[in-house]
Amino acid sequence: MAVGLGSGSTSALVIEEIGRRVRDGLRIVGIATSIQSHRQAESLGIPLTDFARQPHLDLTIDGADEVQRGTLALIKGHGGALLREKIVAMASRRMLVAVDPRKIVDRLGSVFTVPVEIVPFGWETTQRRLQDQGFASELRRNDAGQPYVTDGQHYILHCKLIESGFTPEQAADAFKRTTGVVEHGLFLSIATKVVIGSVDKVDFLEPTQK
Ligand code: A5P
Repeated sequence: MAVGLGSGSTSALVIEEIGRRVRDGLRIVGIATSIQSHRQAESLGIPLTDFARQPHLDLTIDGADEVQRGTLALIKGHGGALLREKIVAMASRRMLVAVDPRKIVDRLGSVFTVPVEIVPFGWETTQRRLQDQGFASELRRNDAGQPYVTDGQHYILHCKLIESGFTPEQAADAFKRTTGVVEHGLFLSIATKVVIGSVDKVDFLEPTQK
C-alpha cells in the first residue's frame, strides 16, 4: 500500500506503530504530511516516496482538531500543518481520521477556530478582507511572539467560524475566493472513516450525512 502519514500528536503514535509493523515485515511506502512526520518516518525506517513516483495513495491516516458528527467534516491544522495534509488527503482513495472522543462535535467550530494558511506578503490586507466578509481572526504566533511560519513558508490566521454566520461549506468557498489565501483547515467530504480511541474501547464512525 501507499499511505499518507499524518501530522500531530495522534499521528505520531500511528507512525510509531506503522514503524513497528514495518520492522515486522509490513510492506508499504509512505508520503508524510509535514517535515516533522517525514523525519519521524525516516528515523523509523518507513520507506518514503513522493508524488512523482506515486501519484495516488491508497489511504491517509491523520488526526483532526474537530470532527462533526454525521458529515465527518473536519477542522485540521491546529498543529500548524494543513496544506500538505490536504494535498496528501486529496490524493488518497480513503482518509482515516484518528481522534479521541473529545474531538467529536455536533457543530464544526464549536471549540476550535479554522486555521487559514495565507501568503506572508500583505497578510494584514488579507486579514482585513476576511474581516470584511465576517471572519474575525488572529495571526498565529510562535513562542517568541513572531508570526508562525508553516512548512510551506506561509502564515496562519485563526478564523472564527460560528461567529461568522457561515456554514462550513460557505466559509470554505469564501476562503478559497480570497486573494492571499493558500488553503484552509476545513476538510469537507474528505474523511471516509473516523476511529475514536478511548481508554477502554475503540469506536468507528462513517459519514451518514452530506
Ligand atoms: C496538524 O496541524 C493537524 O491538522 C493535526 O492533525 C491536528 O491538529 C490534530 O493534532 P493532534 O493529534 O495533536 O491533536
